[in-house]
Amino acid sequence: MSEAPLAFVLAAGLGTRMKSRTPKVLHPVAGKPLLSHVIASVRAAGARPVVVLSKESEAARAFLDDTIPVALQDPPRGTGDAVRVALGAANGASGIAFIVYGDTPLMRPETFRRLASLLAERGAPLALLSGQVGTENAYGRIVRDGAGDVARIVERRLASRDEAKLPESNLGAYAVDLAWLRETLPRLRPNETGEIFLTDLVAEAKASGKRVAVHCTDEPEEGMGVNTRIELAAADAALRRRIREGHMLAGVSFTDPDSCPVDADVKIAADVVIDRGTILEGKTVIGSGSRIGPYAVLRDTVVGEGCRVEQSTLEGATLEDEVTVGPYSHLRPGAYLERGVSLGNFGEVKNARLRTGTKMHHFSYVGDADIGARVNIGAGTITLNYDGVRKNRTTVGDDAFIGSDTLLRAPVTVGKGAVTGAGAVVTKDVPDDMVAVGMPARAIKRSDRRKPRGPGSSAPRP
Ligand code: UD1
Ligand code: CA
Repeated sequence: MSEAPLAFVLAAGLGTRMKSRTPKVLHPVAGKPLLSHVIASVRAAGARPVVVLSKESEAARAFLDDTIPVALQDPPRGTGDAVRVALGAANGASGIAFIVYGDTPLMRPETFRRLASLLAERGAPLALLSGQVGTENAYGRIVRDGAGDVARIVERRLASRDEAKLPESNLGAYAVDLAWLRETLPRLRPNETGEIFLTDLVAEAKASGKRVAVHCTDEPEEGMGVNTRIELAAADAALRRRIREGHMLAGVSFTDPDSCPVDADVKIAADVVIDRGTILEGKTVIGSGSRIGPYAVLRDTVVGEGCRVEQSTLEGATLEDEVTVGPYSHLRPGAYLERGVSLGNFGEVKNARLRTGTKMHHFSYVGDADIGARVNIGAGTITLNYDGVRKNRTTVGDDAFIGSDTLLRAPVTVGKGAVTGAGAVVTKDVPDDMVAVGMPARAIKRSDRRKPRGPGSSAPRP
C-alpha cells in the first residue's frame, strides 16, 4: 500500500489586502479559520497536510494540531518559494502531493481525489483545477496553445489586455508528482515582481515536453479565494449556503434558510426544523424531531430529541430529550437540563443541573445549583450564588416547591419535598418535607409534597 499523499497548504502570505493585524488565513468563515477549512478538506481527501507559515502568520500555529508539520517561509517570496519550503519539510517523501492555498475554504475533497486520478490517467507530472469564472476577478488566467493544451498561467496583474479577457482561470488546487517537483522547482526564477510563482511550473512542464492535466470544475464557486474582506463575506455566504443545503438534503427543514447561518461543525439530525433567524454556532448538536427558533442562538450546545427552543440564547448548554426553552431565556455554560425540563420566559441558568421534569417558568436565575427532579421553581426565584468573594452552590431536593420570589442564599440546601413560601429569604438549610416562610425563612410545619395522593397517583402536583 502506498503512503497517503502529502498536501502542501500555503499560508505564509502577508494578506495585506485584508488590512488586518490578524493573519489572513485566521479570518473565519462559517465559524472557523479559512486555514482550518482547507486542512479539513485535504484530510478528508486522505492527505497528510504540511502547512507553510511565516513570521507574520505564525499565530496560525495555535489552530493546528501537533500532528501537522509546519514549515517556516522567511521571508515569503511567492507561492513557488513556499512550496520549496514545504518540500524541505517533507523529508524525502515520494509519490504525489497536493498543493493548495490556505485562503480557499470551499475546496471539496473530491476535487483533490479527482486531480490525483487525472494525474495517473494522463501520466502527467502536474494536474490543476480551473474554472470558467468570467473576467471580473484577480485569478491567474489559463493560456492554452493552438492544440488546446495548457501552455502557461499568467497572473491577472501581469496579464496583457487580451490575456485578461481569457475566460478560464486557475482556481489554485494542484496534484503533482513529487520527484518531478523536486527536480523542476529549483528551475523557477523570480519574476518582475521579485516573487517566485508556483504557477510558472506550468510553463516549465511545457518547456520540457510534458503535458499538464486540467480539471475544469462545473462549480467554480469552489475556487473562491479570499484576498479582501469583501471576498471573505462572499466566501462565508457561499460556504453557509452549501452547509445548509447539505443539511436539507439530509432531512433538516429550514423555514427561511438565508436567515439562518450554520457553522461548519454543527450537527443536525433528520426531522429537525430550524425556524427563521436562528444562528447555530461552534460544536452545536441537535437531535431528531427538535424545533429551534425562530430567533434562537445556539453556541456549543447539545440538544436532545423532541426539544423546543424558541427565541433564546444557549451557550455551552446541554438539553436532554423533550426539553422546552423560551421564549427569552438564557442558558450559559454548564447549564444541564434533564429530560422534560421546561424553562419559560426570562429564565437564566448557569453551571447548574435541573433534573427530570423540573419547571421554571418565569423570571428566575439559577446559577451554581443542583435542582432535583419535578421541582417547581416559582416566578422570580433567585439563587444568590455569589457572596462577593466566591461562588457558592445551592441544592434543591426532588419534588420541592420553591415559592415565587424566593431568594436562596448559597451555600444552602432545600430538602426533598420541602416548600418555601412566597418571598422567602432562605439563609439556612430547609429539612426534607418542611415548609419554610419569611425573612429569613423559618421552617414552620410539614409539607405534603411527597405524600401519596390516592390510588394510582404517586406524582406530586406540578
Ligand atoms: C494565486 C495564484 C493564482 C490563482 C489564485 C487562486 C500564484 C502565483 N497565483 O494568486 O494563479 O488564480 O491564487 O486563488 O500562485 N503564500 C505563501 N507564501 C508566499 C505567498 C503566498 O504561503 O510567499 C500563500 C498565501 O498565504 C495564500 C496563498 O499562498 O494563502 C495564495 O497567495 P495569494 O497571494 O493569495 O495568491 P493570489 O494572488 O490569490
Ligand atoms: Ca489568494
